[in-house]
Formats: sequence, structure tokens, C-alpha cells
Amino acid sequence: MKNALVAYLAERPEFKTAAVVDNQWGDTGKGKIVAALSSWADIIVRGTGGANAGHTIYQDDKRYVLHIVPCGILTHGKINVIGRGVAVDPAVLLEDLTQVEHPSRLLISKDAHLVLPQHILLDCVRENSAAGKIGTTGRGIGPCYEDHLARIGLKVMDLLNPDVLRTKLERNLERRRAELSQKDALPKLRSLLLSDQFAHGNLWDRNSATVLNVHWIVEHYSKYGQKLKDMIINADTYLQERVGKARILLEGAQGLLLSVDYGTYPYVTSCDCSRYGLARGAGLLPEQVDFTLGTVKAFAMTRVGKGAFPTELGGEKSEEWCNLGITEQDEQKQCPAADINSDDPFEQGVAVRRAGGEYGSTTGRPRRVGWLDLPLLRHAVSINGPQIVLTKLDMLSECESINICDAYRYSGPSQYVCHSQFGEGPVLSQSGKLLQKAIVADEVLRHCAPQYRKFPGWQCDISGITNQDDLPRELRDLTRFVEDQTGANVIAGSVGPANDQLFMMSSPALVRA
Ligand code: IMP
Ligand code: MG
Repeated sequence: MKNALVAYLAERPEFKTAAVVDNQWGDTGKGKIVAALSSWADIIVRGTGGANAGHTIYQDDKRYVLHIVPCGILTHGKINVIGRGVAVDPAVLLEDLTQVEHPSRLLISKDAHLVLPQHILLDCVRENSAAGKIGTTGRGIGPCYEDHLARIGLKVMDLLNPDVLRTKLERNLERRRAELSQKDALPKLRSLLLSDQFAHGNLWDRNSATVLNVHWIVEHYSKYGQKLKDMIINADTYLQERVGKARILLEGAQGLLLSVDYGTYPYVTSCDCSRYGLARGAGLLPEQVDFTLGTVKAFAMTRVGKGAFPTELGGEKSEEWCNLGITEQDEQKQCPAADINSDDPFEQGVAVRRAGGEYGSTTGRPRRVGWLDLPLLRHAVSINGPQIVLTKLDMLSECESINICDAYRYSGPSQYVCHSQFGEGPVLSQSGKLLQKAIVADEVLRHCAPQYRKFPGWQCDISGITNQDDLPRELRDLTRFVEDQTGANVIAGSVGPANDQLFMMSSPALVRA
């Protein structure tokens, strides 16, 4: 059976290249939407991020968490491409593939960035020091992209030539050695190097000052190269030859608010997760994408790691709690009976997290949760475009009432120049000012108090709904409010993890268009 989104695209043959991007801080259920659209596409492409992503897909009663390989790998007869913008950790890539019994075809751009042990070590060592902690996933993503811009990065094609690999590695480590050998970093570094992840010390050259054993890396990574060599291609040419002819689906990673260019800087990841970054990372031009769909978790948001989150339930207490390194089981033990209708926002947050299963699929960390934030959504829609799908609509089914933030009251220093919501020239953001569209910088958002509109909840099970007409009136009113306030068109809704828990929502705006 065709799912609703596939039917929607099938009726529009002029849409040849489609993209799915996340309009929040990741984890909005993109994996499911991409998997649902995979049967429409001939080619599925990842263009950004790396093993920091965790795309969860349920298929045939099995749960898959893919990190680097596109979700189309699960659909028979598809071609999956890892584009030039992806940070590829070959160990994780091969691990992804072992999950899938009959993977469809995979091609890897020769130009994709290579994640190496030093990147993971640097990421972990930095996160271990209080200063500059971001709450990263520890997958080496930041240092890998940094090396690219610093012109000391390595690419996937280097795996195929041990001499080039050695020369580039030596040059890279010459620059990175100083940071790795810092006195403060050494205890953490030693424990990492002796761990299972780093081959129990084989990576560590104890006899020389280089810290890392270049010989070991060359040998080990050349073996990865041999395993991957038949998949490595010039993906730019491959896709440019097919764009406008084949049906291409671009799979985003992370979310707009984590984009290094458009996100809540500096608490972001190190690549551009917008539709522009995605197209570029796939080797395409943004104008070659015919249709972009942005995912929005409804009507709550989540974020992992550090950084401002104006609507967070439980505020700073929640931020601290979620960054303690506890697991879902720890939380269950410590807050066994958290109530989703509690007057205590922290407790309510725990209950929402539990209702939505909001624990990181890459790190297992509890995700910080909060109400839907329209000032941030207005920003996301202005970059990623108006078509959105509301995901996880079933998460708040037990809430008596639901808050939506439609503006902020800014109470920080009067130093920020922003544009009014109508784009009429700069205005100074003064203390006490009401902001409709977020100024997307951490130091501003920290001083933004959300202004809420309170809506009644629907308080019934909606997970079996397959038609928008059957949605409770309360939910339809909320959807209409989000559209009116942001200019977004809600074109589809998702009420659970299964492929068929997805239906189209013809918003009035879309009908008018
Ligand atoms: P990095 O991407 O590992 O460098 O982490 C930078 C920030 O992005 C941290 O706050 C991470 O928690 C966050 N992040 C990275 N990938 C994801 C994701 O797939 N979902 C949610 N947050 C992510
Ligand atoms: Mg995820």
C-alpha cells in the first residue's frame, strides 16, 4: 500500500528531487519520513552530518538505528548515496550495514570527509573539560569538519592509497598533537586509548612523542578502504547526471537549529543542516531541489546537549539533569511516577520525555523537552520553506492543556540589532521588548522569556487515526494556530512510528495555493 506522502508526490511528477529536513534541534522523526518516502525515490542521498545522527526506523517489527547510511538502505532496489558533505567514520558505516540483512545498493562520495581516531579523541577530551563544553555526541564531528576548513582534513578516497593516507595523517597529527598532548587532557586521553573503542592501546605509540600510532592507523584504515572500495565513486557526477530525471530524495541530518550557519550558535553541530547545506553536501544546487519538507515535532520540542532552550520544561534544572550522563533507567528509578499534568514543570517534562521515548538514539541521553516555540519555528520556516509535517502528534495525547510559545519577552542587554517581523530595517532589541521572530544566538535566547497561549488538550488516543477528518477538534485548532502564526503549510501529520501512521493534512493555505 502506498503511504500518503508517496501518493502525494506520485501525483506531482514535476517534483523529481525532494528533501526532508528537520526544523528543530534534531530528533523530530525524519528517519520515519525518509523511510516512508524511500519507496517513491530511486536514489536516496545523505549530504550532511555523520555518526552524530541517529535515524530510528521501524520496519517489519524491527527497530533500526542508522547513523551514516541513508534510510533507503532498508528498501529493496534503491540506490543510496553518501554525499561529499558527510563526515564518514568507516567503522560506524560498516556497523550500520551489518544491521541490515539485505541492504540495497550503497555508493560513497570519494570527497566525503574522513573521521579518524584523533577526531573522536579530540572531541571527547574537549567535552571532558568544563570550558567550551557543548554536550556533543563525541563522534568526532566538530574536529573532522574543522580539519577540512584548516586544510588538513582527509577524504574517503585517501583510504585507497596508503602512501597518501600516511603523508596526510602525519601532516594532520603534526598540527593536532599539541592539543592532544596537553597536560590536562592526558588522563582522559589515556583512558580512551586503553578502551575497547581504540583497540586497547594499539593506537597508542608509547615509544614516540606522536601519541598516536600512524602505522596502526594506516594499516587499519586501509583495510576499511579495501572493504569499501567498490562503493567509492564520484558522487557529484553521478547525481548531476541523474538530477531532473531520476527521483532523488535528500535525507537531512540533525536540525536547522543545530546548523552552524543558521542555528543557536555556538551550541550547534559543525555543518549546515539547512536545506542549502543538504543540497550542497549532496553535490547539488539548492535550486535543483523541487520540494522540501521540514519536520516539526508537535507540539513539544527537544534538544540534546547544552544551549539555550527558552520553552524548556523545568528550565535550568532540566538542562543540568539531562546533562548529568544519566540513562532512561536511572531516570525511571529516580522519578517513577512523573505526571504529565503535574504543576511542577520539571516533573511534567520528565513525563513528556517518557511519553515520547525521548532518549538519544546515538548517546542514550535524556533529551531536554519543552513546548513548541513559534519564534524559532518562524525562523526555521524562513530558511527551510513553508511545507512542514507534524510528527509525534500522539506524544501529548494525555495532556489536559498544551502551551504554545508565540512570542518572547526579551530581558537582556540592549545591544542586539535585529529586524522587525516585517523585515523593515533594523531595530535595537531593548530590554522588555516583545520578539515575534527569534534572534537566533545563544546569548540572546538565554534572556528570552516565552509568552504562552494555553490550549485545551484532546486527551484521547489518536495513534490509530489515518484521516485528518478524524482528528480531535482541539488538535486541528492547534494546527491551524501554528499555520496562521508562522506562515507554514502543514501538509502531513504522523501519529506513531509505523509507516501507515501518516496522513495528509490539506491546510487551507495549501488549498488556496
Ligand atoms: P556534535 O554534532 O556531536 O558535534 O554535537 C553538537 C551538538 O549537536 C550537541 O548539542 C549534540 O547533542 C547535538 N546533536 C548532534 N547530532 C544530533 C542529533 O542527531 N540529534 C540531536 N542532537 C544532535
Ligand atoms: Mg536522531
